[in-house]
Amino acid sequence: MHSRRALLYMPGDNWKMITKSVTLGVDSICMDMEDGTALNKKAEARATIAKALQELDFGRSEKLARINSIGSGWEKEDIEAVLPFHPDGIVIPKVESFEQVEWADRIIEAAELKQGWPVKSVRVLIGVETARGIMNLREIAAHPRLDAVIFGGEDFAASIGATRTREAVELSYARQAVVVTCAAYDLQAIDIVTIDYRDLKALRAESEFGARLGYSGKQIIHPAQIEPVQTAFTPDDASISYARRIVETFEASQQAGKGAYSLDGKMIDMPLLKNAQKLLARARAAGKQV
Ligand code: COA
Ligand code: MG
Repeated sequence: MHSRRALLYMPGDNWKMITKSVTLGVDSICMDMEDGTALNKKAEARATIAKALQELDFGRSEKLARINSIGSGWEKEDIEAVLPFHPDGIVIPKVESFEQVEWADRIIEAAELKQGWPVKSVRVLIGVETARGIMNLREIAAHPRLDAVIFGGEDFAASIGATRTREAVELSYARQAVVVTCAAYDLQAIDIVTIDYRDLKALRAESEFGARLGYSGKQIIHPAQIEPVQTAFTPDDASISYARRIVETFEASQQAGKGAYSLDGKMIDMPLLKNAQKLLARARAAGKQV
């Protein structure tokens, strides 16, 4: 799966931001036709994204296009405008049911067959950011086309009538429901945007908190947010070497017939091994030698 520590949005009609984004070394670039694009710029966004997919070299950045939500009336034209130019993935916002993913899956599969691309070569990421989306996530997340679930904090707060706070306590239940469901279905979980993009200290803290919750990445809206977020979602050297020691000593202790043993005065057993393996997998996905 493509590593998505940071997923950078920009309005799909903004050619300047799109051309800048491909130079930044960000994991994922999401050209937006939804809320980042003004109501009178939807058509321009479609044409600009199609042009970017044809003309720009995205390097190692993943190229994604976010369509308008299903039921908005724009979604069909959005997806049809960009699909022929093979984005790496389509992002569907405000998903509330399995059928909505089915709708996109049918259109994408038809395009894949028509163009002779491998089936499932266009990935689908969904935004879950409403009360219904969270309620139905268990069914939605079972869809085989999915790669990742993106949790939208601002939309979710609006959906339940919560007041957003810096500590984000009002999001706790949904934010954790997303991580748990993603883990159950082996999907990536991508955390909320820090909209105060000038406050990099708050961004680092929020990113580290998201990583500790189990998120694999975070949505961002400004180039200055790339480095803090990609760093926070990359395991650091100390945790990598500790995880490696757990993996190595675990093997020896199993062979000595011990399920639980002591390392640096702490008890190690199976769950700690699994966590260490997960951390090493994440480090590898982020391009670290482990
Ligand atoms: N992607 C790529 N480049 C971006 C960018 C983004 N999301 N946001 C800003 N930039 C570029 C600017 O074009 C500018 O480039 P330049 O130095 O070559 O002129 C540079 O980064 C600095 O931008 P800055 O002046 O600090 O930001 P701004 O005031 O122009 O814009 C925002 C601030 C928040 C309006 C803008 O960052 C933005 O539109 N972000 C994306 C919002 C979005 O897509 N929301 C929907 C999804 S939640
Ligand atoms: Mg949203």
